[in-house]
Amino acid sequence: MLNAKISALGCYTPPRVLTNQDLEKLVDTNDQWIMERTGIRERHIAAPEMATSDMAIEAARCALAQRGIDATEINAIIVCTVTPDHMFPSTACLVQNGIGAKGAWGFDLIAACSGFVYGLTVGANLVMAGTHKKVLVIGADTMSRIIDYTDRATCVLFGDGAGAMLIEPAGEEDGGNGFIDFMGEIDGSGGNFLKMPAGGSRQPASHETVDQRLHYVHQEGSQVFKYASRKMHEVCRDLLQRNHLKVEDVGIMIPHQANKRIIMAAGERLGIAPERVMINIERYGNTTAGTLPLATRDAISEGRLKRGDIVLFAAVGAGYTVGASLWRWAF
Ligand code: UT7
Repeated sequence: MLNAKISALGCYTPPRVLTNQDLEKLVDTNDQWIMERTGIRERHIAAPEMATSDMAIEAARCALAQRGIDATEINAIIVCTVTPDHMFPSTACLVQNGIGAKGAWGFDLIAACSGFVYGLTVGANLVMAGTHKKVLVIGADTMSRIIDYTDRATCVLFGDGAGAMLIEPAGEEDGGNGFIDFMGEIDGSGGNFLKMPAGGSRQPASHETVDQRLHYVHQEGSQVFKYASRKMHEVCRDLLQRNHLKVEDVGIMIPHQANKRIIMAAGERLGIAPERVMINIERYGNTTAGTLPLATRDAISEGRLKRGDIVLFAAVGAGYTVGASLWRWAF
C-alpha cells in the first residue's frame, strides 16, 4: 500500500510577546506561580487586525517555500482550529484564496488541542488512498480572541500561533520513512470541563451572553489536568504496543503543550527519557492546534529530530479529544 510522509513544515507566531510580568498587571497572578504550575514564561499575541487565516496563510507559505512548490499544486487544505475567522465560510476557504491554491478543496477540523494530530491522520489517509498528491494540514489558533483577560485561571495559559505540514506520497527514495499509525478517542462526557459556552446554536450571541462573558474559554482546570495526564500516557502506550515498538525506539515524543506538568507526568508514566520529550511551552504557552507544528520546528532546529527518527505526536484536548500518531521522519 502507498505510504504518506510529511515533506515540509512552516510556522508563524505573531511578533508581540505577552510575558508573565505583563499578566501580573492584568490579574492577581505572579511569574513564580505561572512557571511552577504551568511552565509558561511568555506567549505570542496576534495584532488586532490579524485573524486565524492570516497566521495560517503565513505558515502555509513558509511550508510551500521550504518544499519549493507552487500553491496550485495543493490538492486539499485542512485547517485545524477552534478560532476560525468566522462560523462560516471555513478558514480553509480563506487560506485557499489567500495562498492561491486554485483547484484545492478543503475544510476546517474542530478537535481543539487534538486538532493537528487528527488533521495529520486525515491528510495521511487522503494521500494513502492514492487520490491526493499534496495535502496541506494547518493548525492555527488565535486563542487571545476567546480568552478572558480578567480570569487568571485561563488567561495565563494560552497564546497564538500557527503551523503547517505538507503531506505527500512516500516513495522508494524515502527508505520506509513516513506514516506508521494513529490511535484516537473522543469522550463527550468531559465536554463541560473545557468549552466556550456561547456563540453557537445552543446559546447564540446576545447581549446577555456577552454580559455573562460566555464567549470566552471556561475551564475546570484540575479535571482536565487529571484526564489529560492519564490519557496522554495511555494513548501513547497503546499505540506503541500495537506497533510492537518500545519507548526506546522513539526518537522524540512531541506532545501537545498545555502544561509542562502534564507532559512530564505522561512522559514519566510512559517511561521515556526526559531528553526525548519535546517541551517548548515556556515560549509559546498553549496555542491549541498550533502547538505540535511549533514544537516540531523547534525540535528540528535544536537538532533533536532528524530524518529516519521515529516521532510520536500526542494530544489531549477539549471534547474530550485524544490522539496520537507515529511517523518515521522523512526530511
Ligand atoms: O489544552 C487543553 C487542555 N487544557 C489543559 O490541559 C489544562 C489543564 N489544567 C491545568 O493545566 C491546571 O489545572 C491549571 C494550570 C489550569 C491550574 O493548575 P492547578 O495546579 O490545577 O491549580 P488549581 O486550579 O487547583 O488552583 C490552585 C490555586 C487556587 O487557589 P486556592 O483556591 O487554592 O486558594 C487558584 O485560585 O491557584 C490559584 N490560581 C492562581 N494563582 C495565581 C489559579 N490560577 C492562578 C494564577 N495565578 N494564574
